Amino acid sequence: MSTPHISANKNEIAKVVLMPGDPLRAKYIAETFLDNVTMFNSVRNMFGYTGYYKGRKISVMGSGMGMPSIGIYSYELYKFFDVENIIRIGSCGAYTDKLKLYDTILVTEAYSESSFAFAQGKVKSDTIKASAELNKKLEAISKQISIPVVKGTIHSSDVFYREYPEEVLSLAKEKNLLGVEMESFALFHNANVLNKKAACLLTVSDSLVTHESTTPEERQTAFTNMMKIALELAE
Ligand code: HPA
Repeated sequence: MSTPHISANKNEIAKVVLMPGDPLRAKYIAETFLDNVTMFNSVRNMFGYTGYYKGRKISVMGSGMGMPSIGIYSYELYKFFDVENIIRIGSCGAYTDKLKLYDTILVTEAYSESSFAFAQGKVKSDTIKASAELNKKLEAISKQISIPVVKGTIHSSDVFYREYPEEVLSLAKEKNLLGVEMESFALFHNANVLNKKAACLLTVSDSLVTHESTTPEERQTAFTNMMKIALELAE
């Protein structure tokens, strides 16, 4: 079975897929945390791996950056490879000084100005919820393994480099947004239209308020808290 962007057999991919943006982070997670790893996709170097975490099957694959990219990969995984649950594990910029670098966010809903949901499925809402069922499990796991999460709404933005960055902070205040990333809104929408489940854990990689940031090397390895929570969803 092949789609335009994934070359794999259905049985090579687990029902639960973790999706970091960076395919090299997918490789790092597979090599660091999983046993009996096989690579199921390398089309466009968007690496996907399946392995076992504490004896339970799970896959991990890059999503690329932005809603068009995660929109393609998540749709194909859900629709053509029988994937049931996708958990995005990404980074975000903080919109509030209450969040510190490396804090973990459990996203309850994604707000966006993006036309993705309308263009894809005529959905007009600017806010889409994560799966309540997956979030309940992720929250319970976070308590069990003593890795705290902050719950709330995030901004899925189409733009990284804004000409008027200060304006986005007033939007953040008005909509009560914890931080900004670029993918969840499309992922949650695809899950809804295909009757599947999606969730998102984010690690704060920079702050739009204090302007602190992490290096790409730190991002590669220091996001283990969020990975440890998500990996426990392996079946
Ligand atoms: N903007 C959008 N996406 C992000 C950011 C940001 O500042 N930081 C991490 N992901």
